[in-house]
Amino acid sequence: MARILGIESSCDETAAAVVEDRTRVLSSVIASQVELHREYGGVVPELAARRHVEAIGFVISSALEQAEVGWDDLDAVAVTHGPGLIGCLLVGVSTAKAIAWQRDLPLLAINHLEGHVRSAFIEHPQIEYPVVALVVSGGHTSLYLCPREGEYRSLARTRDDAAGEAFDKVGKLLGLSYPGGPIIDSLARDGDEKAYHFPRPKMKDGSLDFSFSGLKTAVRIRAQKEGLACEGTEEREPGPRVRDMVASFQRAVVDVLIGRTIEICRREGVRSALITGGVACNGRLRRGFRERGKQEGLSIYFPSPELTTDNAAMIAAAGFLHLDRGQYAPLSLGANASLKL
Ligand code: KG4
Ligand code: ZN
Repeated sequence: MARILGIESSCDETAAAVVEDRTRVLSSVIASQVELHREYGGVVPELAARRHVEAIGFVISSALEQAEVGWDDLDAVAVTHGPGLIGCLLVGVSTAKAIAWQRDLPLLAINHLEGHVRSAFIEHPQIEYPVVALVVSGGHTSLYLCPREGEYRSLARTRDDAAGEAFDKVGKLLGLSYPGGPIIDSLARDGDEKAYHFPRPKMKDGSLDFSFSGLKTAVRIRAQKEGLACEGTEEREPGPRVRDMVASFQRAVVDVLIGRTIEICRREGVRSALITGGVACNGRLRRGFRERGKQEGLSIYFPSPELTTDNAAMIAAAGFLHLDRGQYAPLSLGANASLKL
């Protein structure tokens, strides 16, 4: 029986978790900073890093307490070392190194994106390989082909905004609160997704890469024309036209994400796909994937919402692959803001 302490601080969540034997989550503590950044309409890196410093000690001790384990019950410490905001990453990495050194534990350096992919296996350990993984969050929109455990081939990524970023920016320009993603998800339920036609952007060079900035601009132009656009961090009560607009925007994003994933599954002859990252909480995306998956005869896997947004259980879960292979990081480990998977 092995237990890993996972630590995550790459963006605006300070998180720690204890996971036993790959998939048993004994605790998963997440301190969200969303209230801190709301008045700015986005994450302020300096404030985020400082808040991580304040929170991380308490978050880790809470994770151990909730798991009912002591330091001596741990077999390794796993930490996100990239990609993310450099000041934020350094808080987690320095803390993990101090623990590894002081407790004489193996240090496991985890790519945040590998963590997101592994999050799906916590509740669905039966996922069969090869599998296509869509990581769709505020910072990333990437498709990977995983031929076997621990192997990731990058097949498509965003050339500009991430899908979650597009949700948040569209929310901001329509005067919705931050983050826009979950608010748009709920407003869109009462909107008509066919009310506006927004583009489903494709690359001219035939690549399957994503691009969401043109879609965001199309929404902005339309919102300005109809007098719905807001300046700065101004917030407004959304009316029926805003509901229609966000429903139509959401439909365009969902169509692109599902279309591209299915295309890759067909091209690579893969029968299963997993979808993870904050945007994977989206109700319309989940419903769309289930429907298309059924039509195409694909098995579609989603982690539950608390494992799909940023958390440390996924970092500890990814740590097991490194621990099994003896893939330990040196105590000179640094953070890498633009680490690739
Ligand atoms: O994975 P995550 O917690 O952090 C990153 O690594 O970025 O994802 C946060 C992103 C935000 O952009 C947020 O607006 C989006 O996920 N998001 C959603 C929903 N819930 C969170 N987007 C659309 N619909 C949702 N229900
Ligand atoms: Zn993330």
